[in-house]
Amino acid sequence: MSSRSKWGVFWLLVIGIVVGIVISASTVSVVQWAGSDKFCTTWCHSMDGVAYAWKQGQHARTPTGVTAGCSDCHLLNETNHPLTPVAYTQLLFAKAEAGFVSLIGEIKGNYSTPEKWIERRKVTEKRVIDTMTGNNFKNCRGCHNLEEMYDAKKPMIAQFHKGFIDKPTNCVQCHKTAGHNYKEVDAYIAENKKFPPLEDAWKAAAK
Ligand code: HEC
Ligand code: HEC
Ligand code: HEC
Repeated sequence: MSSRSKWGVFWLLVIGIVVGIVISASTVSVVQWAGSDKFCTTWCHSMDGVAYAWKQGQHARTPTGVTAGCSDCHLLNETNHPLTPVAYTQLLFAKAEAGFVSLIGEIKGNYSTPEKWIERRKVTEKRVIDTMTGNNFKNCRGCHNLEEMYDAKKPMIAQFHKGFIDKPTNCVQCHKTAGHNYKEVDAYIAENKKFPPLEDAWKAAAK
């Protein structure tokens, strides 16, 4: 090889690496942006009710201030540290699928009125629970390591949950409001025929 073409190869490599880094970095930020609670709760109005119910569920605010957002529970691996390339690729596919399903729902107008959203819940809720049952509540377990549950004041609870380690368990069968609490939003819709303003979710008496 002449020294000129050697330099050519060298610069091509350098440019390739730089472009690669920029593309990966922007993928990571787009993925984070599109997985943020802000994106999920404000981008589509069809999520207004779900977001309200999430704010009234058990994870949007907690005694310790450590919380769980949409992606933590709804996307594969998010809580299970998607650091390996394979896990990260799976996460990208899961996100693409979630986005696609939402987009189709949006186009078909599945959630175009609050009443339709409530009616569709039978279907959407089942889909979520089936997915979670399918991976044995991997996302819940990613944060709640049942082996390490400990509550000095209520030792029985931790003891009881030890029985669910490595066993197929439906967490939300018992923890119905872990993700979302629909009680107030459904009542509001029945009365007002529209979604309540999201910022009112925490105005009512503390839950
Ligand atoms: C702590 C876990 C958790 C978090 C955080 C969470 N969800 Fe859920 N989500 C669930 C579970 C469990 C279900 C099924 C039971 C139910 O409907 O509450 C569900 C159901 C849903 C459904 C289908 C039912 C419906 O009402 O249409 C949608 C859509 C949804 N979640 C979107 C979201 C969005 C958007 C966020 C963030 C604002 C979010 N979730 C945050 C656990 C969670
Ligand atoms: C991103 C991490 C994360 C995920 C995912 C997660 N949780 Fe939690 N969960 C928490 C934190 C943090 C708390 C509050 C602990 C505290 O403040 O003491 C909590 C609290 C709880 C509580 C106690 C609530 C109360 O008010 O006493 C239950 C029950 C619970 N989670 C069940 C679940 C279930 C079921 C799932 C899956 C649908 C889930 N969690 C997913 C982090 C998570
Ligand atoms: C058969 C019912 C049942 C199942 C299944 C179940 N739990 Fe619980 N869980 C309870 C009860 C009862 C409590 C105590 C009251 C409460 O906090 O709701 C509790 C409490 C908790 C708490 C709060 C602990 C504390 O000390 O405040 C967390 C976190 C939790 N469960 C997570 C889970 C996760 C994650 C799963 C699935 C792997 C699960 N639970 C499955 C019944 C259940």
